[in-house]
Amino acid sequence: MPSLFDPVQFRSIRLRNRIGVSPMCQYSAKNDGSATNWHLVHLGSRAVGGAGLIMTEMTSVESKGRLSHKDLGIYDDKHIEPLKQIVDFVHAQGASIGMQLGHSGRKAWTSSKGDDSLERLVAPSAVNFDDGWKTPEPLTETEISDIVEKYVQAAIRADKAGFDGLEIHAAHGYLVHQFLSPLSNSRTDSFGGGFENRIRFLEAIVSEIRRVQPKEKFLAVRISCTDWIDGGWNLEESIKLAKKLSTLGVDFMDCSSGGLSPRQNIPVSPGYQVPFSEAIKSQANISTAAVGMITTSTFADQIIKENKADIVFLGRESLRNPQFALTASNDLDHLIEYWPDQYRLARP
Ligand SMILES: Cc1cc2nc3c(=O)[nH]c(=O)nc-3n(C[C@H](O)[C@H](O)[C@H](O)COP(=O)(O)O)c2cc1C
Repeated sequence: MPSLFDPVQFRSIRLRNRIGVSPMCQYSAKNDGSATNWHLVHLGSRAVGGAGLIMTEMTSVESKGRLSHKDLGIYDDKHIEPLKQIVDFVHAQGASIGMQLGHSGRKAWTSSKGDDSLERLVAPSAVNFDDGWKTPEPLTETEISDIVEKYVQAAIRADKAGFDGLEIHAAHGYLVHQFLSPLSNSRTDSFGGGFENRIRFLEAIVSEIRRVQPKEKFLAVRISCTDWIDGGWNLEESIKLAKKLSTLGVDFMDCSSGGLSPRQNIPVSPGYQVPFSEAIKSQANISTAAVGMITTSTFADQIIKENKADIVFLGRESLRNPQFALTASNDLDHLIEYWPDQYRLARP
């Protein structure tokens, strides 16, 4: 059975260990969506810190898909060069790096504040996130195709920047999740109604990206495995979706939850989302990533050893400790060859 420090391979991309840095918005981009020195230092220092896979924050495929003016974008060729510098630095440290592609749909955060400076708010249906939030305009079928094409163009740019793979953000109540969940999707055309219709937008994104993405590079999808609301998206549908996506060329499912509605009731505790990863891994014949309140090396190692996930993503713990992988190698008494030479005097 593998352990936390065993490498894992997706297509031609070999991760040096199973520790991932979870995608985390930094609200530090330039107003035009370009990456800054903050992203270089933030992502770069976690590569120095020994992680196997670094995932960027949700990076928007179009300007109006950003949560805020300070989010990363990949909707213009000018975004490529600053991202490439980050990718090159991360690679030089021996880590792999993926880009999380997203679109916030009805959840653009200014929609809760009556800020009209963002462009038109769009979603599958005219259902707002909460009282006081703006009501989005339903996308037409032509607009849906246009957004799929924007994902494709974003994927091509990410490849040019040198990313090892992509993760489609289909979780946390953003645009793709808004299509998946019956609570936010009340369409009556081929994109709404039954399960097969609600997953159609995501399937189109995955299939179209796979047509242009080099076959050596990985493609992952982050989902909210449950809305934590009766009548919402649930684990059973997540397993069905994962089975389908594995046939379309998705390499692993990143198993998160919630974010669709403030009505959710989440029983948060250490590793509370790990059972979702375990269920999808064992029932959908696809690799998985576990995430959520995993903060110690022994717990992370246990998740891998018990075959509940292939990768463990750390969010806030990696903010607290960018060197998590280095310190974990000490805790678990595992000798790693990628302790940075510059830090050799600190090696125990
Ligand atoms: C500051 C911050 C920003 C986040 N931004 C994103 C994001 O861009 N995309 C995403 O999928 N999740 C995002 N998340 C969620 C994390 O990736 C992770 O799933 C969550 O924090 C739970 O893991 P943790 O308990 O290890 O922090 C964010 C979390 C934090 C704390």
